[in-house]
Amino acid sequence: MSGVPLFNSIDIKSISFKNRVIMSPMCQYSAENGHLTNWHKQHYSRFAQSGLGGAFMEATAVSPEGRITHGCTGIWDDKFIPDLSEIVKIFKKYNVNIGIQIGHAGRKASCDRPIDGAKPLTSQSIEKPWEIIAPSSIPMSLDSPEPREATQDDIHKIINDFTLAAERANKAGFDMIEIHGAHGYLLHTFLSPISNKRTDNYGGNFENRVRIIKEVINSINQVWPKNKPFFYRISSIDGLDAGTTWNEILELVNILKSLGVDVIDCSSGGLSGTSAISKAKITPGFQVNYAKNIREHCNISTMAVGAIIGYEQANNIIGHNCADFVALGRELMSNTQWVYHAAKHFKLNNSKDFIDPKYAFYLRRRDEQLDLEHMPK
Ligand SMILES: Cc1cc2nc3c(=O)[nH]c(=O)nc-3n(C[C@H](O)[C@H](O)[C@H](O)COP(=O)(O)O)c2cc1C
Repeated sequence: MSGVPLFNSIDIKSISFKNRVIMSPMCQYSAENGHLTNWHKQHYSRFAQSGLGGAFMEATAVSPEGRITHGCTGIWDDKFIPDLSEIVKIFKKYNVNIGIQIGHAGRKASCDRPIDGAKPLTSQSIEKPWEIIAPSSIPMSLDSPEPREATQDDIHKIINDFTLAAERANKAGFDMIEIHGAHGYLLHTFLSPISNKRTDNYGGNFENRVRIIKEVINSINQVWPKNKPFFYRISSIDGLDAGTTWNEILELVNILKSLGVDVIDCSSGGLSGTSAISKAKITPGFQVNYAKNIREHCNISTMAVGAIIGYEQANNIIGHNCADFVALGRELMSNTQWVYHAAKHFKLNNSKDFIDPKYAFYLRRRDEQLDLEHMPK
């Protein structure tokens, strides 16, 4: 125990996390036909050297049609396993637990990369659009194409695709897995009564809307090792009237817990609009209360995410029992050595353990030599 909650280790199943800071999954939209490129190798290498407790690789599609863009990474075929295991090795070299988020974009599939506008692809686009499917033929926004309503055969294929993806993630050596059940992607659209108007046993009441999620998890449980952590990302609120109720969210979490999910990653929103992150104004830690309330009500580990920026802010989230982990996205992009700086901020004796040993050697030497009292103003 370090005396600083953010740096207290925690075990989830067989995995020990040396601190509570996790890299949030962030699509790079830099893949080619689902394959990783050199960008991914250098991008993930930077974060492997960040002293993190763990990291999640970006949302990786369980089927080609489940990609958001042509630039999304894929795990729908065994051919992806060698490259994915390279990413695992990069993190393992630095003793950082590495997970992968797997998902299906549903009605948010077939779009331009965010950097190119994130608009739905059309026949006029340079890259080809593809057919999108969703629980109901309700487009995500007024200018979006109508998705095809998934048949029961589609649903069985989706469950199978998630399962095979999880099996491949394990073969590639990932320590943990996260199911993307948030941000208006396929599983979230089944859950929300706004996007799910089905009249069969996958729509209507809560029990039916949650069915596909239960079936995906039950099926993944057949292939994902029992001793490896299982995370599930939810949208804690839809952010729209007539969406999933808070009581339903708590019920969902209780179901996830009963199925063996270890950590609820508490995001929010995304049911409408195209981009990976909303353009609405946000305040630091704007989603932390969801992680806190879910943790308290359902007695399950949670991960807080969203504009977690400051060292004290992050430490208080853990210290005040609001969450078991903090996930950082954009702040890590801006400061890849965030964990090292946090350790220095809290005056931990072992702060240089959170930086590459070669850098630590020279920084230690500079610390010994430097007289900061003579810093020019
Ligand atoms: C470039 C980018 C890509 C993202 N891709 C994903 C993703 O693959 N899966 C996901 O669940 N969230 C994704 N997000 C959301 C982040 O994981 C995170 O929840 C969000 O950025 C809020 O955290 P932050 O304020 O620390 O960035 C993405 C965000 C960004 C900025």
